[in-house]
Amino acid sequence: MSDHAVPSPTDTDAALLSEARALDAADPLHAHLDAFLEAPGVQAYLDGNSLGRPLAVVPERLAAFVREDWGTRLIRSWDEQWMDLPERLGDRIAEVTLGAAPGQTIVADSTSVLLYKLIRAGAAAAGAPAGPDGARTEIVIEEGNFPTDRFIAAGVAAELGMDLVWVQPDPVRGVTVDDLVPVLSARTALVVLSHVDYRSGALADMAAITAQVHDAGALVLWDLCHSAGSVPMQLDAWGADLAVGCTYKYLNGGPGSPAFAYVRRDLQAQIRQPIQGWWSAADIFAMGPRYAPTPGIRQLLSGTPPVTSMLAMQAMLDLIAEAGMAAVRAKSVSLTDFAVRAADEVLAPLGVRLLSPRDSALRGGHITIGHPEFQAVTQRLWGEGVIPDFRFPDGIRLGLSPLSTSHEETLRGVVAVRDALALGGR
Ligand SMILES: Cc1ncc(COP(=O)(O)O)c(C=O)c1O
Repeated sequence: MSDHAVPSPTDTDAALLSEARALDAADPLHAHLDAFLEAPGVQAYLDGNSLGRPLAVVPERLAAFVREDWGTRLIRSWDEQWMDLPERLGDRIAEVTLGAAPGQTIVADSTSVLLYKLIRAGAAAAGAPAGPDGARTEIVIEEGNFPTDRFIAAGVAAELGMDLVWVQPDPVRGVTVDDLVPVLSARTALVVLSHVDYRSGALADMAAITAQVHDAGALVLWDLCHSAGSVPMQLDAWGADLAVGCTYKYLNGGPGSPAFAYVRRDLQAQIRQPIQGWWSAADIFAMGPRYAPTPGIRQLLSGTPPVTSMLAMQAMLDLIAEAGMAAVRAKSVSLTDFAVRAADEVLAPLGVRLLSPRDSALRGGHITIGHPEFQAVTQRLWGEGVIPDFRFPDGIRLGLSPLSTSHEETLRGVVAVRDALALGGR
């Protein structure tokens, strides 16, 4: 047990509180906080980058869907509205968040499954033309990438007889062109990177890195899980080849809502995804003897799409479209800048380190702070309705979903971390 007591509010707390309130008063997106369902007992929800909050309209939308689209129209709804939902929703995500023209984005499966499909398809497609020694046999991936990306890339490399080549970027700054230059060669087939690092929040320069990978004659696949709905993108203009992202973080699709995949239009005829189910057959109802893929982005489908899990994100996409991604990013920068300032003033004196870039231009929508006691601290905080998340070995991530989080809520979280630390985290 600790013999520390909960500290009383300080002058610093009071100054930060007035600053938070002033920032909230000046926030043009502040009114949107009311669009989210209330969470009784929650004092600060700082995990919107793991699971976004439901919008208040979602319960009724789900109920209406069950009553009408499913309950009344029954199987007729497939013809009436569900068959092309994966593409329609993909186009909507592309328009609102990705900076991508229609026909290149589809909603399906989980992030992990779409990563498998596109890493496999991209590595195989880029395996030719040959390098000087005969083949492009390498998949490049960073050591700090999310586990599922690394595990799947390793599985695909084993399946295709390719080699994994690791890059080790600075864990706080994240991956840069300079990290890639030494490993890119005529043997590189595919590079797999995250746009925003899941731990540090570091934001990669997608345009510059993509250009560098293309100079080496290889393809690049971007994991957009932590940037979709938080950081504006221009996938088409930046020349991205392949991308995968999830919809339950900043797109608030709900637990297990399906992922999305982007394939640049002119690559679509070259790739062949490995799970060739009936939903990507040229004629789904022909029930023919042999598989022939449908052209275009729909070729990434495999089986029946999870229609119910595609509902909640539609409301969030409408809200993001109304706010505009530029305003969402401006709020996000304001929240993370404020969180860094508050952490410097309130937490740094207790030995807490900032594990994210200080420069807002180099980070996405969350920051990570580190302290050896943070695992126990997180447990205590969850019990008190203050909900960040813990990332091994000693990081607390403050995920500040721009449309559902206020500066005052952010400060409540930072102050609660200090108070929990003072109690020894137990
Ligand atoms: C960056 C990143 N990539 C991939 C995944 C895996 O997603 P899924 O569990 O939906 O397959 C996650 C999950 O949080 C993630 O944060």
